[in-house]
Amino acid sequence: MKIYDKEIHEYVDELVNSIRKVVEDSNVLAAVSGGIDSTVAAYLTWLAIGDRVKAYIINTGFMREDEVETTKALLENMGLPVKVYDASDAFYSSLLGKKDAEEKRKIFREIFYETLAKLAKDENAQYLVQGTIAPDWIETVGKIKTQHNVLAQLGIKTEEKYGFSLLEPLANLYKDQVRAIANYLKVPKEIIERQPFPGPGLLVRCVGEVELDKLKALRNVTALCQDLLMKIDASQSFLAIFRKPRMTTSKEISDFIKEIKNIVGIGGRGFKTFEFYENVTGVKGDSREYSKMLGIYHKESELLLKHKDEIVKMFPKVLKSYIRVAVLVSEPRPAGKYAVSIRAVKTSDFMTASVPEVSIDLLQQIVEQIMKDIRITQVYYDITPKPPATIEYE
Ligand code: XMP
Repeated sequence: MKIYDKEIHEYVDELVNSIRKVVEDSNVLAAVSGGIDSTVAAYLTWLAIGDRVKAYIINTGFMREDEVETTKALLENMGLPVKVYDASDAFYSSLLGKKDAEEKRKIFREIFYETLAKLAKDENAQYLVQGTIAPDWIETVGKIKTQHNVLAQLGIKTEEKYGFSLLEPLANLYKDQVRAIANYLKVPKEIIERQPFPGPGLLVRCVGEVELDKLKALRNVTALCQDLLMKIDASQSFLAIFRKPRMTTSKEISDFIKEIKNIVGIGGRGFKTFEFYENVTGVKGDSREYSKMLGIYHKESELLLKHKDEIVKMFPKVLKSYIRVAVLVSEPRPAGKYAVSIRAVKTSDFMTASVPEVSIDLLQQIVEQIMKDIRITQVYYDITPKPPATIEYE
């Protein structure tokens, strides 16, 4: 594979040389998450300037179970020395109680960069290297969402605000190009094949109000289901947590159910519908939507799942107040204060995505794991493609 008409080794040599030329004899701070982009960016810098790169894993408090330790070990196996900095108290004190998706993302970004500013000062680093790739800044500048790592393209002057200049060696590249470079650099396959995990982590999967107990429940069920989620034939699969939704109905919902009955061929009154309290994100054309999600239940959930593609094709015409639809997979249990949604998508570029079919058997195994956490009362399978939904909920 060539990158912009150059062989990979030539392209990498050029990147390494240009990093060396830009930073001269300065120190460079690197924030590494264990994702492919930040790892490649830090590793290229390490190739360029060796020990003058100061690599850190920032524990934001929104990481998955054991993620910090596992990532540290993987990076050290590559030969990249890395330190861990625990900033979770700062993140929690600013984020607990916040509800709005964009506000959460903006606060996260602020605390993230304040933490980096402190570390850059401690390490006497004039630069911060980060793994921003082309779709990150395209989506942020297009106001689809605030990526936690996009600054310069928004006109934020990092020198004045945080005391470091930015180094973004991958900013013109797309995911498949970064993957090719990572393979060439012999980055471990656990990192190259790792599913994307958003910078703000579990924050954007703890949908709506950020509460410590809700976050802990999400972290717990995510760990319980990790292996089973990997069995779904998907590019990305994860769980998100919500407050238990309320049962609801309306004229548009009954029209929607009528259409479903036609599609699926079930009559009768066996349907229940639930409105989630939280708003969730979607995309319409080039802009971002922030609106409601509807849950549907029928004891033959298998039939709803079998016809999911026809249902989601029909729903935007009938259901004007909702941008996502999820099928309740389990019989709801009375106790418990949260609902969990299983999100799985197939995609090549993450700009559009479809929802894969999952056998009811596998879904039930996942539900069984999730229900081990007594805080959870309902489990849904989200059947909405991108568009109209986004992959994440916030
Ligand atoms: P959406 O939700 O916009 O997600 O359809 C597209 C892809 O991007 C990932 N994602 C992020 N990655 N920082 C990241 O590094 C972020 O803030 C962020 N938000 C979403 C998402 O997981 C999916 O793979």
